Amino acid sequence: MAHYAAQHKWMIFVCTVMVFLTNIAILVSPWLLKLLINDLEKNFATITQREITYYAAGLLGLALVAGVFRFGYRRLIGGLAVRIEYDLRNNLFQHLQKMSKSYFDDESTGDLMSRATNDLESIRRLIGFAIVFIVDSTVFFFMALVIMLQIDVKLTLLALLPYPLLAIVVQQMTGRLHDMYETIQEGFADMNTKVQENLLGARIVKAYNLERRELQDFDQRSQRFVDLNRVFYRLEAILFPLFRLLPGIGTIILLWVGGIHVMEAKITIGDFVAFTAYLAMLTRPMIMLGFIINRFAQGSASMDRIYAILDTPSLITDGPDVRHDISQIRGEVEFRNLTFSYPNLPPILKNINLKIPVGSTVAIIGSTGCGKSTLANLIPRIFNVEVGSLFIDGIDICQLPLKTLRSQIGVVQQEAFLFSDLLKNNIAFGVDVTSETEIKASAHSVDLLAQIDEFPDQLETFVGEKGKTLSGGQRQRTAIARAILTHPKILILDDAFASVDTHTEDTILQRLAQVMSNSTTIIISHRVSTVKSADLIVILEDGEIVERGTHLELLAHDSHYAKIHQRQLLVEEIEAMETI
Ligand SMILES: Nc1ncnc2c1ncn2[C@@H]1O[C@H](COP(=O)(O)OP(=O)(O)OP(=O)(O)O)[C@@H](O)[C@H]1O
Ligand SMILES: [Mg+2]
Repeated sequence: MAHYAAQHKWMIFVCTVMVFLTNIAILVSPWLLKLLINDLEKNFATITQREITYYAAGLLGLALVAGVFRFGYRRLIGGLAVRIEYDLRNNLFQHLQKMSKSYFDDESTGDLMSRATNDLESIRRLIGFAIVFIVDSTVFFFMALVIMLQIDVKLTLLALLPYPLLAIVVQQMTGRLHDMYETIQEGFADMNTKVQENLLGARIVKAYNLERRELQDFDQRSQRFVDLNRVFYRLEAILFPLFRLLPGIGTIILLWVGGIHVMEAKITIGDFVAFTAYLAMLTRPMIMLGFIINRFAQGSASMDRIYAILDTPSLITDGPDVRHDISQIRGEVEFRNLTFSYPNLPPILKNINLKIPVGSTVAIIGSTGCGKSTLANLIPRIFNVEVGSLFIDGIDICQLPLKTLRSQIGVVQQEAFLFSDLLKNNIAFGVDVTSETEIKASAHSVDLLAQIDEFPDQLETFVGEKGKTLSGGQRQRTAIARAILTHPKILILDDAFASVDTHTEDTILQRLAQVMSNSTTIIISHRVSTVKSADLIVILEDGEIVERGTHLELLAHDSHYAKIHQRQLLVEEIEAMETI
Protein backbone atom coordinates (compact mmCIF):
# COMPACT_ATOMS: atom_id res chain seq x y z
CA MET A 1 0.00 0.00 0.00
CA ALA A 2 2.74 2.43 1.00
CA HIS A 3 4.42 1.68 -2.28
CA TYR A 4 1.34 2.76 -4.21
CA ALA A 5 0.95 5.85 -2.09
CA ALA A 6 4.54 6.83 -2.87
CA GLN A 7 3.94 6.32 -6.56
CA HIS A 8 1.02 8.72 -6.62
CA LYS A 9 2.19 11.15 -3.95
CA TRP A 10 1.44 14.28 -5.97
CA MET A 11 -2.08 13.27 -6.65
CA ILE A 12 -2.56 12.43 -2.99
CA PHE A 13 -1.11 15.80 -2.02
CA VAL A 14 -3.49 17.68 -4.32
CA CYS A 15 -6.41 15.65 -3.00
CA THR A 16 -5.48 16.37 0.59
CA VAL A 17 -5.28 20.10 -0.12
CA MET A 18 -8.70 19.96 -1.73
CA VAL A 19 -10.09 18.08 1.24
CA PHE A 20 -8.80 20.82 3.51
CA LEU A 21 -10.30 23.55 1.37
CA THR A 22 -13.65 21.78 1.23
CA ASN A 23 -13.72 21.43 4.98
CA ILE A 24 -12.70 25.01 5.57
CA ALA A 25 -15.55 26.15 3.34
CA ILE A 26 -18.00 23.93 5.20
CA LEU A 27 -16.77 24.96 8.62
CA VAL A 28 -16.89 28.66 7.91
CA SER A 29 -20.65 28.60 7.21
CA PRO A 30 -21.84 28.07 10.82
CA TRP A 31 -19.40 30.78 11.79
CA LEU A 32 -21.08 33.09 9.35
CA LEU A 33 -24.40 32.05 10.79
CA LYS A 34 -23.14 32.93 14.24
CA LEU A 35 -22.04 36.36 13.07
CA LEU A 36 -25.43 36.91 11.43
CA ILE A 37 -27.37 35.95 14.56
CA ASN A 38 -25.13 38.01 16.79
CA ASP A 39 -25.56 40.91 14.42
CA LEU A 40 -29.32 40.46 14.42
CA GLU A 41 -29.37 40.30 18.17
CA LYS A 42 -27.18 43.32 18.78
CA ASN A 43 -28.25 45.62 15.94
CA PHE A 44 -31.80 44.44 15.62
CA ALA A 45 -33.09 47.94 14.95
CA THR A 46 -30.45 49.11 12.49
CA ILE A 47 -29.64 46.02 10.40
CA THR A 48 -30.58 46.38 6.74
CA GLN A 49 -31.93 43.85 4.32
CA ARG A 50 -28.85 44.36 2.22
CA GLU A 51 -26.59 43.23 5.04
CA ILE A 52 -28.60 40.07 5.46
CA THR A 53 -28.33 39.43 1.74
CA TYR A 54 -24.54 39.61 2.06
CA TYR A 55 -24.62 36.92 4.68
CA ALA A 56 -26.86 34.77 2.51
CA ALA A 57 -24.60 35.28 -0.52
CA GLY A 58 -21.62 34.37 1.65
CA LEU A 59 -23.29 31.13 2.69
CA LEU A 60 -24.14 30.29 -0.90
CA GLY A 61 -20.60 31.07 -2.02
CA LEU A 62 -19.16 28.81 0.66
CA ALA A 63 -21.49 25.99 -0.35
CA LEU A 64 -20.40 26.40 -3.96
CA VAL A 65 -16.70 26.40 -3.10
CA ALA A 66 -17.14 23.30 -0.95
CA GLY A 67 -19.05 21.59 -3.75
CA VAL A 68 -16.43 22.35 -6.38
CA PHE A 69 -13.54 21.11 -4.26
CA ARG A 70 -15.42 18.05 -3.14
CA PHE A 71 -16.18 17.21 -6.75
CA GLY A 72 -12.49 17.73 -7.58
CA TYR A 73 -11.02 15.43 -5.01
CA ARG A 74 -13.62 12.72 -5.43
CA ARG A 75 -12.91 12.63 -9.13
CA LEU A 76 -9.18 12.47 -8.56
CA ILE A 77 -9.45 9.78 -5.93
CA GLY A 78 -11.84 7.79 -8.09
CA GLY A 79 -9.34 7.91 -10.94
CA LEU A 80 -6.52 7.00 -8.59
CA ALA A 81 -8.44 4.03 -7.23
CA VAL A 82 -9.04 2.66 -10.70
CA ARG A 83 -5.39 3.23 -11.53
CA ILE A 84 -4.18 1.40 -8.43
CA GLU A 85 -6.59 -1.43 -9.07
CA TYR A 86 -5.20 -1.63 -12.60
CA ASP A 87 -1.61 -1.76 -11.36
CA LEU A 88 -2.44 -4.29 -8.72
CA ARG A 89 -4.31 -6.49 -11.17
CA ASN A 90 -1.43 -6.39 -13.63
CA ASN A 91 1.05 -7.15 -10.89
CA LEU A 92 -1.06 -10.04 -9.79
CA PHE A 93 -1.39 -11.43 -13.28
CA GLN A 94 2.30 -10.98 -13.94
CA HIS A 95 3.14 -12.70 -10.69
CA LEU A 96 0.80 -15.57 -11.43
CA GLN A 97 2.47 -16.01 -14.80
CA LYS A 98 5.76 -16.53 -13.02
CA MET A 99 4.48 -19.09 -10.57
CA SER A 100 5.56 -22.67 -11.00
CA LYS A 101 3.28 -25.51 -11.93
CA SER A 102 3.38 -26.86 -8.40
CA TYR A 103 1.78 -23.63 -7.18
CA PHE A 104 -1.19 -24.15 -9.46
CA ASP A 105 -1.33 -27.80 -8.46
CA ASP A 106 -1.89 -26.67 -4.88
CA GLU A 107 -4.13 -23.65 -5.39
CA SER A 108 -7.65 -23.89 -6.71
CA THR A 109 -8.40 -21.87 -9.82
CA GLY A 110 -11.71 -20.69 -8.40
CA ASP A 111 -9.95 -19.22 -5.40
CA LEU A 112 -7.34 -17.44 -7.50
CA MET A 113 -10.08 -16.14 -9.77
CA SER A 114 -12.09 -14.74 -6.90
CA ARG A 115 -9.01 -12.96 -5.60
CA ALA A 116 -8.30 -11.48 -8.98
CA THR A 117 -11.83 -10.15 -9.31
CA ASN A 118 -13.80 -9.76 -6.10
CA ASP A 119 -10.91 -8.88 -3.83
CA LEU A 120 -9.43 -6.40 -6.25
CA GLU A 121 -12.77 -4.68 -6.51
CA SER A 122 -13.11 -4.34 -2.78
CA ILE A 123 -9.64 -2.82 -2.65
CA ARG A 124 -10.70 -0.30 -5.24
CA ARG A 125 -13.71 0.60 -3.17
CA LEU A 126 -11.49 0.92 -0.13
CA ILE A 127 -9.19 3.34 -1.88
CA GLY A 128 -11.97 5.14 -3.67
CA PHE A 129 -14.31 5.81 -0.83
CA ALA A 130 -12.98 4.77 2.50
CA ILE A 131 -9.76 6.72 2.23
CA VAL A 132 -11.61 9.83 1.13
CA PHE A 133 -13.96 9.53 4.05
CA ILE A 134 -11.20 8.86 6.51
CA VAL A 135 -9.12 11.84 5.45
CA ASP A 136 -12.21 14.00 5.09
CA SER A 137 -13.73 13.01 8.42
CA THR A 138 -10.51 13.27 10.37
CA VAL A 139 -9.67 16.68 8.99
CA PHE A 140 -13.22 17.84 9.56
CA PHE A 141 -13.37 16.45 13.07
CA PHE A 142 -10.25 18.20 14.26
CA MET A 143 -11.05 21.50 12.60
CA ALA A 144 -14.55 21.47 14.05
CA LEU A 145 -13.14 20.51 17.43
CA VAL A 146 -10.84 23.53 17.52
CA ILE A 147 -13.67 25.90 16.66
CA MET A 148 -16.02 24.33 19.18
CA LEU A 149 -13.40 24.54 21.92
CA GLN A 150 -13.01 28.19 21.13
CA ILE A 151 -16.70 28.80 21.60
CA ASP A 152 -17.11 26.89 24.86
CA VAL A 153 -14.62 24.43 26.32
CA LYS A 154 -16.91 22.88 28.90
CA LEU A 155 -19.77 22.49 26.46
CA THR A 156 -17.50 20.87 23.91
CA LEU A 157 -16.15 18.34 26.36
CA LEU A 158 -19.62 17.44 27.59
CA ALA A 159 -21.22 17.18 24.16
CA LEU A 160 -18.40 15.01 22.91
CA LEU A 161 -18.60 12.74 25.95
CA PRO A 162 -20.30 9.87 24.05
CA TYR A 163 -17.65 9.89 21.34
CA PRO A 164 -14.86 8.00 23.16
CA LEU A 165 -17.46 5.30 23.72
CA LEU A 166 -18.01 5.34 19.99
CA ALA A 167 -14.28 4.93 19.40
CA ILE A 168 -14.22 1.86 21.62
CA VAL A 169 -17.18 0.31 19.80
CA VAL A 170 -15.53 1.07 16.49
CA GLN A 171 -12.22 -0.44 17.53
CA GLN A 172 -13.89 -3.59 18.84
CA MET A 173 -15.98 -4.05 15.76
CA THR A 174 -13.25 -3.53 13.17
CA GLY A 175 -11.38 -6.67 14.11
CA ARG A 176 -14.50 -8.80 14.07
CA LEU A 177 -15.69 -7.42 10.76
CA HIS A 178 -12.29 -7.95 9.20
CA ASP A 179 -12.11 -11.60 10.23
CA MET A 180 -15.67 -12.14 9.16
CA TYR A 181 -15.10 -10.60 5.81
CA GLU A 182 -12.10 -12.82 5.22
CA THR A 183 -14.27 -15.85 5.93
CA ILE A 184 -16.89 -14.50 3.56
CA GLN A 185 -14.35 -14.09 0.80
CA GLU A 186 -13.17 -17.64 1.38
CA GLY A 187 -16.76 -18.80 1.15
CA PHE A 188 -17.09 -16.93 -2.11
CA ALA A 189 -13.95 -18.54 -3.47
CA ASP A 190 -15.25 -21.92 -2.42
CA MET A 191 -18.44 -21.29 -4.35
CA ASN A 192 -16.47 -20.01 -7.30
CA THR A 193 -14.39 -23.16 -7.40
CA LYS A 194 -17.52 -25.26 -7.52
CA VAL A 195 -18.99 -23.25 -10.39
CA GLN A 196 -15.74 -23.29 -12.30
CA GLU A 197 -15.25 -27.02 -11.91
CA ASN A 198 -18.80 -27.70 -12.96
CA LEU A 199 -18.49 -25.56 -16.03
CA LEU A 200 -15.28 -27.25 -17.04
CA GLY A 201 -16.54 -30.70 -16.16
CA ALA A 202 -20.07 -30.14 -17.47
CA ARG A 203 -19.83 -33.11 -19.81
CA ILE A 204 -18.83 -35.50 -17.06
CA VAL A 205 -21.48 -34.23 -14.70
CA LYS A 206 -24.09 -34.85 -17.38
CA ALA A 207 -22.68 -38.17 -18.46
CA TYR A 208 -22.86 -39.47 -14.90
CA ASN A 209 -26.21 -37.89 -14.17
CA LEU A 210 -24.73 -35.98 -11.28
CA GLU A 211 -26.63 -32.73 -11.78
CA ARG A 212 -28.74 -33.22 -8.68
CA ARG A 213 -25.82 -34.11 -6.44
CA GLU A 214 -23.76 -31.22 -7.75
CA LEU A 215 -26.70 -28.90 -7.24
CA GLN A 216 -27.04 -30.01 -3.65
CA ASP A 217 -23.36 -29.58 -3.08
CA PHE A 218 -23.47 -26.12 -4.60
CA ASP A 219 -26.52 -25.26 -2.57
CA GLN A 220 -24.67 -26.15 0.60
CA ARG A 221 -21.77 -23.87 -0.22
CA SER A 222 -24.12 -21.17 -1.37
CA GLN A 223 -26.11 -21.47 1.85
CA ARG A 224 -22.94 -21.16 3.89
CA PHE A 225 -22.09 -18.01 1.99
CA VAL A 226 -25.54 -16.61 2.70
CA ASP A 227 -25.25 -17.47 6.40
CA LEU A 228 -21.89 -15.80 6.68
CA ASN A 229 -23.19 -12.71 4.96
CA ARG A 230 -26.24 -12.66 7.18
CA VAL A 231 -24.10 -12.56 10.31
CA PHE A 232 -22.00 -9.86 8.72
CA TYR A 233 -24.96 -7.68 7.91
CA ARG A 234 -26.53 -8.28 11.30
CA LEU A 235 -23.43 -6.89 12.91
CA GLU A 236 -23.44 -4.01 10.52
CA ALA A 237 -27.10 -3.37 11.22
CA ILE A 238 -26.34 -3.05 14.93
CA LEU A 239 -23.50 -0.67 14.21
CA PHE A 240 -25.42 1.92 12.26
CA PRO A 241 -28.15 2.72 14.84
CA LEU A 242 -25.41 2.82 17.46
CA PHE A 243 -23.61 5.43 15.44
CA ARG A 244 -26.74 7.55 15.41
CA LEU A 245 -27.65 6.98 19.01
CA LEU A 246 -24.39 8.08 20.54
CA PRO A 247 -24.22 11.47 18.82
CA GLY A 248 -27.91 11.85 19.71
CA ILE A 249 -26.93 11.74 23.37
CA GLY A 250 -24.38 14.43 22.61
CA THR A 251 -27.12 16.65 21.19
CA ILE A 252 -29.27 16.24 24.31
CA ILE A 253 -26.34 17.31 26.47
CA LEU A 254 -25.79 20.29 24.19
CA LEU A 255 -29.38 21.49 24.39
CA TRP A 256 -29.40 21.17 28.11
CA VAL A 257 -26.00 22.53 29.08
CA GLY A 258 -25.79 24.93 26.13
CA GLY A 259 -29.23 26.37 26.92
CA ILE A 260 -28.12 27.05 30.49
CA HIS A 261 -24.89 28.68 29.28
CA VAL A 262 -26.88 31.03 27.04
CA MET A 263 -29.17 31.91 29.94
CA GLU A 264 -26.12 32.58 32.10
CA ALA A 265 -24.79 34.71 29.21
CA LYS A 266 -21.63 32.62 29.00
CA ILE A 267 -22.19 32.30 25.28
CA THR A 268 -24.29 34.25 22.80
CA ILE A 269 -27.27 32.80 20.91
CA GLY A 270 -25.11 33.00 17.80
CA ASP A 271 -22.50 30.81 19.49
CA PHE A 272 -25.16 28.37 20.54
CA VAL A 273 -26.58 28.06 17.02
CA ALA A 274 -23.13 27.70 15.48
CA PHE A 275 -22.22 25.12 18.09
CA THR A 276 -25.38 23.14 17.34
CA ALA A 277 -24.52 23.26 13.66
CA TYR A 278 -20.99 22.00 14.28
CA LEU A 279 -22.14 19.15 16.44
CA ALA A 280 -24.76 18.17 13.86
CA MET A 281 -22.06 18.29 11.22
CA LEU A 282 -19.93 15.96 13.31
CA THR A 283 -22.65 13.35 13.19
CA ARG A 284 -22.08 12.80 9.51
CA PRO A 285 -18.40 11.83 9.79
CA MET A 286 -19.30 9.70 12.79
CA ILE A 287 -21.85 7.75 10.80
CA MET A 288 -19.49 7.62 7.89
CA LEU A 289 -16.99 6.13 10.25
CA GLY A 290 -19.20 3.07 10.45
CA PHE A 291 -19.25 2.90 6.73
CA ILE A 292 -15.50 3.30 6.53
CA ILE A 293 -14.82 0.60 9.09
CA ASN A 294 -16.87 -1.72 7.00
CA ARG A 295 -15.05 -0.85 3.83
CA PHE A 296 -11.76 -0.99 5.62
CA ALA A 297 -12.52 -4.40 7.00
CA GLN A 298 -13.38 -5.60 3.53
CA GLY A 299 -10.54 -3.86 1.78
CA SER A 300 -7.83 -4.90 4.16
CA ALA A 301 -9.06 -8.49 4.24
CA SER A 302 -8.90 -8.44 0.46
CA MET A 303 -5.52 -6.79 0.52
CA ASP A 304 -4.26 -9.59 2.75
CA ARG A 305 -5.60 -12.14 0.31
CA ILE A 306 -3.94 -10.45 -2.65
CA TYR A 307 -0.66 -10.08 -0.83
CA ALA A 308 -0.76 -13.74 0.11
CA ILE A 309 -0.32 -14.37 -3.60
CA LEU A 310 2.13 -11.58 -4.31
CA ASP A 311 4.30 -12.59 -1.36
CA THR A 312 4.58 -16.20 -2.44
CA PRO A 313 7.86 -16.29 -4.30
CA SER A 314 8.06 -18.17 -7.53
CA LEU A 315 10.02 -21.33 -6.85
CA ILE A 316 11.42 -21.54 -10.31
CA THR A 317 13.50 -18.53 -11.24
CA ASP A 318 16.98 -17.79 -12.48
CA GLY A 319 19.44 -18.39 -9.68
CA PRO A 320 22.35 -16.08 -8.79
CA ASP A 321 24.82 -18.22 -10.76
CA VAL A 322 22.77 -18.16 -13.97
CA ARG A 323 24.85 -17.86 -17.13
CA HIS A 324 23.35 -14.86 -18.86
CA ASP A 325 25.76 -15.24 -21.76
CA ILE A 326 23.89 -18.30 -23.02
CA SER A 327 21.13 -17.44 -25.46
CA GLN A 328 21.19 -20.58 -27.58
CA ILE A 329 21.22 -24.24 -26.79
CA ARG A 330 22.25 -27.12 -29.00
CA GLY A 331 19.95 -29.66 -27.43
CA GLU A 332 21.99 -32.31 -25.71
CA VAL A 333 20.18 -33.60 -22.66
CA GLU A 334 21.82 -35.59 -19.92
CA PHE A 335 20.37 -37.00 -16.73
CA ARG A 336 23.11 -37.83 -14.25
CA ASN A 337 22.04 -40.12 -11.50
CA LEU A 338 18.87 -38.11 -11.14
CA THR A 339 16.43 -38.77 -8.34
CA PHE A 340 13.28 -36.71 -8.13
CA SER A 341 10.36 -36.51 -5.80
CA TYR A 342 7.37 -34.19 -5.51
CA PRO A 343 7.30 -32.21 -2.25
CA ASN A 344 6.73 -34.47 0.75
CA LEU A 345 6.34 -37.59 -1.35
CA PRO A 346 8.59 -40.59 -1.91
CA PRO A 347 10.85 -40.45 -4.99
CA ILE A 348 9.08 -40.83 -8.33
CA LEU A 349 12.27 -41.09 -10.41
CA LYS A 350 15.29 -43.00 -9.18
CA ASN A 351 18.90 -43.06 -10.39
CA ILE A 352 18.14 -41.96 -13.92
CA ASN A 353 21.25 -41.96 -16.11
CA LEU A 354 20.53 -41.06 -19.68
CA LYS A 355 22.42 -39.08 -22.28
CA ILE A 356 20.51 -37.90 -25.31
CA PRO A 357 22.86 -36.62 -28.05
CA VAL A 358 22.00 -33.56 -30.12
CA GLY A 359 19.52 -34.36 -32.85
CA SER A 360 18.76 -37.89 -31.73
CA THR A 361 15.38 -39.32 -30.88
CA VAL A 362 14.79 -41.07 -27.60
CA ALA A 363 11.56 -42.83 -26.82
CA ILE A 364 10.34 -43.52 -23.33
CA ILE A 365 7.86 -46.28 -22.82
CA GLY A 366 6.45 -47.64 -19.63
CA SER A 367 3.27 -48.44 -17.80
CA THR A 368 0.96 -45.72 -16.59
CA GLY A 369 2.17 -43.76 -13.57
CA CYS A 370 5.77 -44.91 -13.89
CA GLY A 371 7.04 -41.33 -14.15
CA LYS A 372 7.36 -40.62 -17.88
CA SER A 373 5.63 -37.25 -17.85
CA THR A 374 7.49 -36.30 -14.71
CA LEU A 375 10.79 -37.02 -16.44
CA ALA A 376 9.76 -34.97 -19.47
CA ASN A 377 8.60 -32.03 -17.32
CA LEU A 378 12.02 -31.73 -15.75
CA ILE A 379 13.63 -30.69 -19.04
CA PRO A 380 11.79 -27.33 -19.43
CA ARG A 381 12.22 -26.96 -15.64
CA ILE A 382 8.54 -27.18 -14.85
CA PHE A 383 9.85 -28.64 -11.61
CA ASN A 384 13.22 -28.01 -10.01
CA VAL A 385 15.80 -30.76 -9.83
CA GLU A 386 18.82 -31.08 -7.61
CA VAL A 387 21.99 -29.38 -8.75
CA GLY A 388 24.24 -31.74 -10.70
CA SER A 389 21.59 -34.11 -11.95
CA LEU A 390 20.33 -32.63 -15.20
CA PHE A 391 22.49 -31.04 -17.89
CA ILE A 392 21.70 -29.36 -21.19
CA ASP A 393 24.74 -29.16 -23.48
CA GLY A 394 26.82 -30.16 -20.46
CA ILE A 395 25.64 -27.13 -18.45
CA ASP A 396 23.67 -27.64 -15.28
CA ILE A 397 20.04 -26.81 -16.02
CA CYS A 398 19.92 -24.52 -12.98
CA GLN A 399 22.53 -22.29 -14.62
CA LEU A 400 20.66 -21.87 -17.88
CA PRO A 401 18.51 -18.75 -18.13
CA LEU A 402 14.90 -19.95 -17.95
CA LYS A 403 13.99 -17.81 -20.92
CA THR A 404 16.66 -19.37 -23.13
CA LEU A 405 15.76 -22.83 -21.99
CA ARG A 406 12.03 -22.59 -22.46
CA SER A 407 12.11 -20.65 -25.69
CA GLN A 408 14.00 -23.50 -27.30
CA ILE A 409 12.00 -26.41 -26.05
CA GLY A 410 8.77 -27.44 -27.73
CA VAL A 411 6.52 -29.44 -25.46
CA VAL A 412 3.36 -31.22 -26.38
CA GLN A 413 1.72 -31.97 -23.07
CA GLN A 414 -0.22 -35.11 -22.48
CA GLU A 415 -3.41 -33.07 -22.23
CA ALA A 416 -3.31 -30.66 -25.13
CA PHE A 417 -4.51 -27.26 -23.99
CA LEU A 418 -5.90 -24.85 -26.53
CA PHE A 419 -6.97 -21.28 -25.96
CA SER A 420 -10.31 -19.79 -26.88
CA ASP A 421 -8.98 -18.19 -30.00
CA LEU A 422 -8.73 -18.84 -33.72
CA LEU A 423 -7.18 -22.10 -34.82
CA LYS A 424 -4.32 -20.30 -36.54
CA ASN A 425 -3.53 -18.34 -33.40
CA ASN A 426 -3.55 -21.53 -31.43
CA ILE A 427 -1.01 -23.03 -33.79
CA ALA A 428 1.09 -19.88 -33.91
CA PHE A 429 0.93 -19.43 -30.14
CA GLY A 430 4.25 -18.28 -28.79
CA VAL A 431 5.63 -17.24 -32.15
CA ASP A 432 5.69 -13.54 -32.83
CA VAL A 433 5.72 -13.34 -36.57
CA THR A 434 4.51 -16.17 -38.72
CA SER A 435 3.16 -16.35 -42.19
CA GLU A 436 0.08 -18.29 -43.10
CA THR A 437 2.31 -20.53 -45.25
CA GLU A 438 4.35 -21.54 -42.24
CA ILE A 439 1.23 -22.27 -40.23
CA LYS A 440 -0.10 -24.37 -43.08
CA ALA A 441 3.18 -26.22 -43.45
CA SER A 442 3.20 -27.11 -39.82
CA ALA A 443 -0.45 -28.19 -39.96
CA HIS A 444 0.47 -30.35 -42.94
CA SER A 445 3.31 -31.99 -40.99
CA VAL A 446 0.81 -33.25 -38.47
CA ASP A 447 -1.65 -34.37 -41.16
CA LEU A 448 -4.16 -31.76 -40.07
CA LEU A 449 -4.24 -29.47 -43.07
CA ALA A 450 -6.63 -31.60 -45.11
CA GLN A 451 -9.15 -31.54 -42.26
CA ILE A 452 -8.68 -27.84 -41.64
CA ASP A 453 -9.46 -27.17 -45.27
CA GLU A 454 -12.78 -28.87 -44.78
CA PHE A 455 -13.78 -26.56 -41.92
CA PRO A 456 -16.00 -23.72 -43.19
CA ASP A 457 -13.68 -21.11 -41.69
CA GLN A 458 -10.49 -23.10 -42.19
CA LEU A 459 -7.62 -21.58 -40.22
CA GLU A 460 -9.96 -18.89 -38.99
CA THR A 461 -12.07 -21.45 -37.16
CA PHE A 462 -12.75 -20.38 -33.64
CA VAL A 463 -11.57 -22.96 -31.20
CA GLY A 464 -13.62 -22.84 -28.02
CA GLU A 465 -12.08 -22.85 -24.59
CA LYS A 466 -10.11 -26.05 -24.07
CA GLY A 467 -10.53 -26.69 -27.80
CA LYS A 468 -13.92 -28.29 -27.43
CA THR A 469 -14.92 -27.76 -31.03
CA LEU A 470 -12.12 -30.07 -32.14
CA SER A 471 -11.83 -33.82 -31.75
CA GLY A 472 -9.31 -35.23 -29.31
CA GLY A 473 -6.95 -36.18 -32.13
CA GLN A 474 -7.31 -32.81 -33.81
CA ARG A 475 -6.52 -31.12 -30.56
CA GLN A 476 -3.39 -33.17 -30.08
CA ARG A 477 -2.24 -32.47 -33.58
CA THR A 478 -2.87 -28.76 -33.17
CA ALA A 479 -0.62 -28.93 -30.13
CA ILE A 480 2.10 -30.74 -32.09
CA ALA A 481 1.83 -28.21 -34.92
CA ARG A 482 2.24 -25.45 -32.33
CA ALA A 483 5.34 -27.08 -30.87
CA ILE A 484 7.13 -27.60 -34.18
CA LEU A 485 6.37 -24.11 -35.44
CA THR A 486 8.80 -22.72 -32.88
CA HIS A 487 11.64 -24.81 -34.40
CA PRO A 488 12.63 -26.10 -31.01
CA LYS A 489 16.06 -27.52 -30.28
CA ILE A 490 14.42 -30.02 -27.99
CA LEU A 491 11.02 -31.43 -28.87
CA ILE A 492 9.06 -33.34 -26.27
CA LEU A 493 6.01 -35.30 -27.34
CA ASP A 494 4.26 -36.61 -24.25
CA ASP A 495 1.82 -39.24 -25.38
CA ALA A 496 1.02 -36.90 -28.25
CA PHE A 497 -0.33 -39.65 -30.47
CA ALA A 498 -2.60 -41.27 -27.93
CA SER A 499 -5.74 -39.97 -29.62
CA VAL A 500 -4.76 -40.64 -33.23
CA ASP A 501 -4.91 -44.00 -34.96
CA THR A 502 -1.71 -45.83 -35.82
CA HIS A 503 -2.06 -45.06 -39.50
CA THR A 504 -2.23 -41.29 -38.94
CA GLU A 505 0.56 -41.62 -36.45
CA ASP A 506 2.74 -43.23 -39.12
CA THR A 507 2.01 -40.43 -41.55
CA ILE A 508 2.83 -37.77 -38.96
CA LEU A 509 6.03 -39.47 -37.87
CA GLN A 510 7.19 -39.68 -41.46
CA ARG A 511 6.42 -36.04 -42.10
CA LEU A 512 8.07 -35.01 -38.86
CA ALA A 513 11.27 -36.87 -39.74
CA GLN A 514 12.79 -33.66 -41.10
CA VAL A 515 11.88 -31.62 -38.02
CA MET A 516 13.01 -34.38 -35.73
CA SER A 517 16.41 -34.65 -37.36
CA ASN A 518 16.98 -30.98 -36.53
CA SER A 519 16.07 -31.30 -32.90
CA THR A 520 16.61 -33.60 -30.02
CA THR A 521 13.32 -35.43 -29.70
CA ILE A 522 11.85 -37.19 -26.72
CA ILE A 523 8.81 -39.25 -27.48
CA ILE A 524 6.73 -40.70 -24.71
CA SER A 525 4.22 -43.36 -25.49
CA HIS A 526 2.54 -46.55 -24.44
CA ARG A 527 2.62 -47.88 -27.98
CA VAL A 528 5.47 -49.75 -29.59
CA SER A 529 4.36 -48.47 -32.98
CA THR A 530 5.21 -44.91 -31.91
CA VAL A 531 8.62 -45.63 -30.52
CA LYS A 532 10.04 -48.34 -32.75
CA SER A 533 12.03 -46.10 -35.07
CA ALA A 534 13.68 -44.08 -32.28
CA ASP A 535 17.46 -44.08 -31.95
CA LEU A 536 17.12 -45.26 -28.40
CA ILE A 537 14.20 -46.75 -26.54
CA VAL A 538 14.16 -46.53 -22.78
CA ILE A 539 11.83 -48.62 -20.67
CA LEU A 540 10.82 -46.97 -17.45
CA GLU A 541 9.37 -48.95 -14.58
CA ASP A 542 8.51 -47.50 -11.20
CA GLY A 543 10.71 -44.52 -11.92
CA GLU A 544 13.75 -46.53 -12.91
CA ILE A 545 15.23 -47.28 -16.29
CA VAL A 546 15.04 -51.04 -16.59
CA GLU A 547 16.02 -51.54 -20.22
CA ARG A 548 17.45 -49.54 -23.07
CA GLY A 549 18.35 -50.19 -26.70
CA THR A 550 17.01 -49.90 -30.22
CA HIS A 551 13.85 -51.66 -31.34
CA LEU A 552 15.80 -54.51 -32.88
CA GLU A 553 18.24 -54.82 -30.02
CA LEU A 554 15.46 -55.03 -27.51
CA LEU A 555 13.51 -57.58 -29.52
CA ALA A 556 16.59 -59.72 -29.82
CA HIS A 557 16.31 -60.97 -26.28
CA ASP A 558 13.55 -61.76 -23.89
CA SER A 559 12.96 -58.19 -22.71
CA HIS A 560 9.98 -56.39 -21.17
CA TYR A 561 9.88 -54.48 -24.39
CA ALA A 562 9.58 -57.67 -26.39
CA LYS A 563 6.66 -58.71 -24.20
CA ILE A 564 4.91 -55.37 -24.64
CA HIS A 565 5.51 -55.68 -28.37
CA GLN A 566 4.06 -59.19 -28.45
CA ARG A 567 1.00 -58.12 -26.51
CA GLN A 568 0.34 -55.12 -28.72
CA LEU A 569 0.78 -57.14 -31.89
CA LEU A 570 -1.78 -59.59 -30.59
CA VAL A 571 -4.26 -56.83 -29.82
CA GLU A 572 -3.74 -55.35 -33.27
CA GLU A 573 -4.37 -58.72 -34.88
CA ILE A 574 -7.57 -59.22 -32.93
CA GLU A 575 -8.72 -55.73 -33.85
CA ALA A 576 -7.89 -56.37 -37.50
CA MET A 577 -9.88 -59.60 -37.42
CA GLU A 578 -12.85 -57.83 -35.82
CA THR A 579 -12.97 -55.20 -38.52
CA ILE A 580 -12.99 -57.74 -41.31
N1 LIG B 1 2.23 -32.63 -9.55
C1 LIG B 1 2.33 -33.79 -8.92
N2 LIG B 1 2.40 -33.82 -7.58
C2 LIG B 1 2.50 -34.99 -6.92
N3 LIG B 1 2.54 -36.17 -7.50
C3 LIG B 1 2.49 -36.24 -8.83
C4 LIG B 1 2.37 -35.04 -9.61
N4 LIG B 1 2.32 -35.39 -10.90
C5 LIG B 1 2.43 -36.73 -10.94
N5 LIG B 1 2.52 -37.25 -9.71
C6 LIG B 1 2.69 -38.66 -9.35
O1 LIG B 1 3.88 -39.12 -9.96
C7 LIG B 1 3.72 -40.40 -10.50
C8 LIG B 1 4.18 -40.42 -11.94
O2 LIG B 1 3.33 -39.59 -12.69
P1 LIG B 1 3.60 -39.33 -14.23
O3 LIG B 1 2.59 -38.37 -14.68
O4 LIG B 1 5.01 -38.98 -14.41
O5 LIG B 1 3.32 -40.76 -14.85
P2 LIG B 1 3.32 -41.20 -16.38
O6 LIG B 1 4.34 -42.24 -16.50
O7 LIG B 1 3.42 -40.03 -17.26
O8 LIG B 1 1.87 -41.85 -16.50
P3 LIG B 1 0.91 -41.89 -17.77
O9 LIG B 1 1.43 -42.93 -18.69
O10 LIG B 1 -0.39 -42.31 -17.17
O11 LIG B 1 0.89 -40.54 -18.34
C9 LIG B 1 2.25 -40.76 -10.31
O12 LIG B 1 2.18 -41.68 -9.26
C10 LIG B 1 1.57 -39.49 -9.94
O13 LIG B 1 0.60 -39.73 -8.98
MG1 LIG C 1 2.14 -39.10 -18.49
